[in-house]
Amino acid sequence: MNIKFNMKKHNLLYLLLIPAFIMIITLYSCSKLEDNLVNSPKAGIHPDGWTNPVNANFHGKYFFSNKWDFKMCTQCHGADYNGGNTGKSCNDPSCHGSSTPEDCKLCHGDRSTTIFPPLALNGSSSVTYIGVGSHNTHLNKDSSIRFSARLRCVSCHKSISGFFDPNHIGSNPDNIAEVVFDSLAITTTNGITPNPVWNRTNPQSCAVTYCHGNFKNGNYRLNPTTMTNPVWTDPNSVYCGTCHGNPSTGNPLPGGTHVQGFTIYNCYFCHGSVINNAGNIINKSKHINGAVNMNQ
Ligand code: HEC
Ligand code: HEC
Ligand code: HEC
Ligand code: HEC
Ligand code: HEC
Repeated sequence: MNIKFNMKKHNLLYLLLIPAFIMIITLYSCSKLEDNLVNSPKAGIHPDGWTNPVNANFHGKYFFSNKWDFKMCTQCHGADYNGGNTGKSCNDPSCHGSSTPEDCKLCHGDRSTTIFPPLALNGSSSVTYIGVGSHNTHLNKDSSIRFSARLRCVSCHKSISGFFDPNHIGSNPDNIAEVVFDSLAITTTNGITPNPVWNRTNPQSCAVTYCHGNFKNGNYRLNPTTMTNPVWTDPNSVYCGTCHGNPSTGNPLPGGTHVQGFTIYNCYFCHGSVINNAGNIINKSKHINGAVNMNQ
């Protein structure tokens, strides 16, 4: 009797303990889950500041340090970004302007019209930062480019057909753009075919392009070791006379058609479609365009 009674008592104890264990385990794993939520959006409710561009938890910054993993977001927000079953569409115009999160100007560009840095991927707008550098000088509105018509991305980057093009971010992004010269940068003139290779630590690599002096009588052909190199992070390193001779800077063009004594005010005699009698470039689309342009 006594023994039986004790057994019953023990059973009761176990019956009370089991729910307690379950509760402890549940609470423990919930708090684990909440820890995860702070660092990663996997569970669907995002951290504070997720929609605030100046907050460290901003989702744009999350991408920068998490390999731009859009596929992760589309699991819940839908492949078309329309929100899936979250009720939050990524195509909401009040967030990404009138477009989708694949819009080029959101991650690199001014967020409204231009698709090239600044801003850089890390948000920098300083020309001294390599990701920004002289993009503006090469690509902004024609009126703000000093020496030529605006370039195209393909002069310096592989052509990409859209966000998921393998030449774009790729499977293992390092947040450093690939620079591959093509198009205008490698124009063949007078039998000279430039073969420039970008080197992040050597500014001279741009001097090897057609544009910056690798053409007949260009400074790179005449004197690659003493020429003034273009520096990507200093637009002022390029001026009249750094790519080819310029009489007004004491750097005369070599002989032949060009004779000593020509000044910047004479060039228009023969190159009148490009430059005027005040020495100003009057038609930038005919300068650094792959050909020597004369009076027409
Ligand atoms: C596991 C599902 C899930 C995943 C994965 C997910 N989300 Fe969400 N997201 C949600 C849910 C649910 C909401 C609505 C509730 C909320 O606002 O937290 C939401 C809301 C949002 C909001 C709006 C927040 C607000 O306050 O208006 C943004 C922005 C967002 N998600 C971006 C992202 C991004 C970017 C990714 C990928 C890095 C992502 N989400 C991945 C489920 C998810
Ligand atoms: C004159 C050459 C040139 C042209 C033209 C050019 N880029 Fe670049 N781009 C560069 C160089 C150089 C870098 C820096 C590469 C590095 O960090 O090693 C760069 C870097 C970038 C980066 C990475 C920014 C970062 O934060 O690091 C992006 C994005 C980019 N370019 C987009 C564009 C787009 C879009 C266009 C066309 C609209 C374009 N570029 C045209 C030379 C160019
Ligand atoms: C979600 C952010 C994001 C969006 C949207 C985006 N890019 Fe990029 N882009 C990047 C990143 C990140 C890199 C640097 C890639 C790396 O690490 O190699 C890059 C680099 C580039 C480059 C430099 C060359 C290269 O591929 O390395 C070009 C050109 C470019 N993007 C064009 C575009 C165009 C055109 C669009 C619109 C179709 C676009 N990007 C949309 C993030 C983005
Ligand atoms: C008397 C006519 C004449 C005048 C004046 C003249 N050029 Fe030229 N220039 C030419 C001809 C012709 C060529 C093509 C030469 C060739 O391909 O060998 C040329 C080619 C060039 C080239 C390409 C490099 C080369 O040697 O092919 C540059 C750069 C150039 N001129 C700049 C100038 C500048 C700057 C001035 C003013 C200081 C100037 N030229 C004045 C006739 C002239
Ligand atoms: C970024 C390099 C660069 C700078 C800076 C530069 N040029 Fe040129 N210039 C070229 C190239 C490239 C050519 C064409 C050479 C060829 O195709 O053989 C050229 C050609 C010319 C020509 C011949 C006509 C033609 O085809 O354009 C004149 C004239 C000329 N430049 C004047 C000037 C003057 C004046 C300045 C300063 C205001 C200047 N350049 C600055 C690169 C440059």
